Amino acid sequence: MRYFFVLGKTPELSVLEFFEMSKAHDSCGSRVLDKVLVVSKKEKIDVRGLMEGLGGTVKAGEIIKEAENLGKIDLGELADFILDNVDKTKKVYFGFSILGKRQEKKKKMIMSLGLGVKKLLRNKGVKARFVTSKDEDLSSVVVKKNKLVSGQGAELVIIERGDERGILIGRTLEVQDFSGYSKRDYGRPNRDMKVGMIPLKLARMMINITGAGKEEEVLDPFCGEGTILQELAILGYKKIIGGDKDGEMVRQAKVNLDWLGVECKMENEEWSQRCSLYRGDVIKLSEVIPNNSLGAIVTEPHLGPPLKGGEGEEEIENIRRELSELYLGAFKEFKKVLKKGGVVVMVFPFFIQGERVRFLDITKEIEKIGFESVLGKRAGDLADLTERGSILYFRPGQRTGREVFKFRVDK
Ligand SMILES: C[S@@+](CC[C@H](N)C(=O)[O-])C[C@H]1O[C@@H](n2cnc3c(N)ncnc32)[C@H](O)[C@@H]1O
Repeated sequence: MRYFFVLGKTPELSVLEFFEMSKAHDSCGSRVLDKVLVVSKKEKIDVRGLMEGLGGTVKAGEIIKEAENLGKIDLGELADFILDNVDKTKKVYFGFSILGKRQEKKKKMIMSLGLGVKKLLRNKGVKARFVTSKDEDLSSVVVKKNKLVSGQGAELVIIERGDERGILIGRTLEVQDFSGYSKRDYGRPNRDMKVGMIPLKLARMMINITGAGKEEEVLDPFCGEGTILQELAILGYKKIIGGDKDGEMVRQAKVNLDWLGVECKMENEEWSQRCSLYRGDVIKLSEVIPNNSLGAIVTEPHLGPPLKGGEGEEEIENIRRELSELYLGAFKEFKKVLKKGGVVVMVFPFFIQGERVRFLDITKEIEKIGFESVLGKRAGDLADLTERGSILYFRPGQRTGREVFKFRVDK
């Protein structure tokens, strides 16, 4: 069986997350386009189940046909794909997306395919709605809201491979749960951009990249308002711990988690057994958390003050020095509280000033404390890591970017 996965804004992280989550290390994968991963596997992949957990894949489905080019595709065959598994006596919904080159011709091609297929369906006596969107490709929202993954519809995804090796046609099986993300992001009681909130999908990808089992104890020692804790809870982790040196942040994280418990209809008791919070400085972590107890630490720490743009060399150097000291102190504590083989997935900031980009240079010292940098080990050469062994996550125009690392404790 072959499957396609349309990756999100930071495809390298999406690939790493995919290989940790799918446990598809034995399968054969290729990046047919920068943002499309195709995976062949002997056994069936539970795409819908997988999509419930993935943070960095926007759409996924099965490959149903391969052809030399679009001109070689018979519209009758496309109509048959759409009718597969639907109730033909009821209205059928269908749409197309074309991934790859040909941006300028896309809209025209989609319209010609859609209208042609609609006519064929009408000739077969099937009532059909051809779903289009003002963006050429159908977004997850359009796919879901127009019943294209409902069992009474289909989105066919045409993947034009970048290397002239023909096209693949896939059928979407599931799209990302955009409404769940939006509810957890905008609906939670405490949401203060000034505190520095990690984007929800990044939080989820980082958790998944740990590879930690759901029964493992997982900590965010810089929990802020609890975004990472929230995603851990939704993913089903049973022992979640959050800490922050600011008591007000701990209070806000608690309110957010209680809200989530109500939203998820969790019994209060079970919820409070799963999540615990403390107030404390990461530098004294081992006074709060027992030694050798944690399976993973996932965190976006304090990233320094927000930059305005005109900071001088010395100011940036001071920030780098202060943060390096804080993080190295934290890693000394992480070493004590992690179990054998435990991992840390963590964001470090990098500072962008015009052409100049400055990173924190502490990986060697982290290794000396007793960690190995292991991001990307599972995905082979399918994910393109930086020379530093990290993946960068940032938006153009940002002055502070995020650099994601994974370390395994060496004990
Ligand atoms: C960027 S926020 C964390 C975002 C958070 N991980 C989330 O899920 O949204 C950084 C947090 O680190 C906390 N902090 C700063 N220095 C700390 C320290 N030495 N020990 C523990 N927490 C600290 C701050 O109070 C702040 O709430």
